[in-house]
Amino acid sequence: MRDLPRALYVHIPWCIKKCPYCDFNSHEQADPDFAGYGRALVDDLDADLERYGSTPFVSLFFGGGTPSLFPPKHLEPLFHRLNDLSLISSGTEVSLESNPGTLDLGHLQGYHDLGINRLSVGVQSFNRDVLKALGRIHDGGQAVAMIERAKAIGFERLNVDLMHGTPDQTPAIAREDLNIVRDLGISHLSWYQLTIEPNTSFYSKPPKLPNEDTLEATEEIGSTVITSMGLQQYEVSAFATPGEEAKHNMNYWEFGDYFGIGAGAHGKITTKRGVVRTRRTRQPSNYLARTDVHAEVHPLSDGHLGTECLMNGLRLKSGISYTYFKQRTGLDPVEFRAAHLMEADRLNLLTPERFQTSKLGWRHLNHILEMLI
Ligand SMILES: C[S@@+](CC[C@H](N)C(=O)[O-])C[C@H]1O[C@@H](n2cnc3c(N)ncnc32)[C@H](O)[C@@H]1O
Ligand code: SF4
Repeated sequence: MRDLPRALYVHIPWCIKKCPYCDFNSHEQADPDFAGYGRALVDDLDADLERYGSTPFVSLFFGGGTPSLFPPKHLEPLFHRLNDLSLISSGTEVSLESNPGTLDLGHLQGYHDLGINRLSVGVQSFNRDVLKALGRIHDGGQAVAMIERAKAIGFERLNVDLMHGTPDQTPAIAREDLNIVRDLGISHLSWYQLTIEPNTSFYSKPPKLPNEDTLEATEEIGSTVITSMGLQQYEVSAFATPGEEAKHNMNYWEFGDYFGIGAGAHGKITTKRGVVRTRRTRQPSNYLARTDVHAEVHPLSDGHLGTECLMNGLRLKSGISYTYFKQRTGLDPVEFRAAHLMEADRLNLLTPERFQTSKLGWRHLNHILEMLI
């Protein structure tokens, strides 16, 4: 297996308030030790560089949790290290996830000054009742204000996260949410259907959700409005104007490598000994105390590699080429297809010559993915 493109994921584990649907590694904590965390991230990066060698990153992504809570000055040590080692340059995509409820902290200018060039805004909905049902800390006006402020500062690349299939959402509300995004002229949209995850408040106390007919109507309206915005679907939940696809997410879906630093972060790295998965300790206090930071390193077996590669790649409308599959797994694509996807081929769910769903297959993606397990 050859050296693959490598990205860097940085996890920020704190939120002002935990949302009832969220199972990310996010913690409510008064007055977190941001300065200490900023230093711990540098040590963490250094440890991975020492283990796996130094290659420039194709993208950086600050995810959470709520990265926009983090004071920019405490990210300076990490950016200094990345710049000193020439691991990033002006062309590197550097994204940060933000929650509109943090706008008043005034951090956006600082992020831009550091070299963060893409902002993802967790809007979810602009509708007051939906936001309330989702336990969000902001209203629609703050979401619009955050996007406008980001534009004024000079963020040219913006993503908006919206959710659908949420309590209190009608197809008309979903349409209104998308219309507002269209009017704001956003070039990337993540449109997620709410999932009820174990270990969340919604799991233990399920809210009333829209029925199947309402969900279907929402999907249909959503698809029409999104197309009218000039955005093209390139992944199950991701839409972009051509050329504005998120490089960082493309690297995950195309099974590239990535370091994952910060509490609870995951990484995937191709080494001479094979592909390893890394995972950091989840609790911010343990992470800050450097206790069991490198909690686990799992080597991935050949069988798992092929499956994992396709579980990611088939989520892309363009799928994944045989060349990439071979380069990233070391497996023969034709043999793998014959062994695992004969049924999908019999049902015409895939296109020939690459791992890509046909029009019919796209509608039955979950069925294809089940065949792989
Ligand atoms: C880790 S959050 C980051 C953004 C920021 N913390 C916020 O919420 O504003 C990433 C996105 O995942 C989506 N998300 C989280 N939990 C979800 C769930 N259970 N179902 C669907 N989407 C979910 C939301 O759209 C959220 O904006
Ligand atoms: S959805 Fe975002 S703000 Fe809400 S708890 Fe999860 S990470 Fe925090």
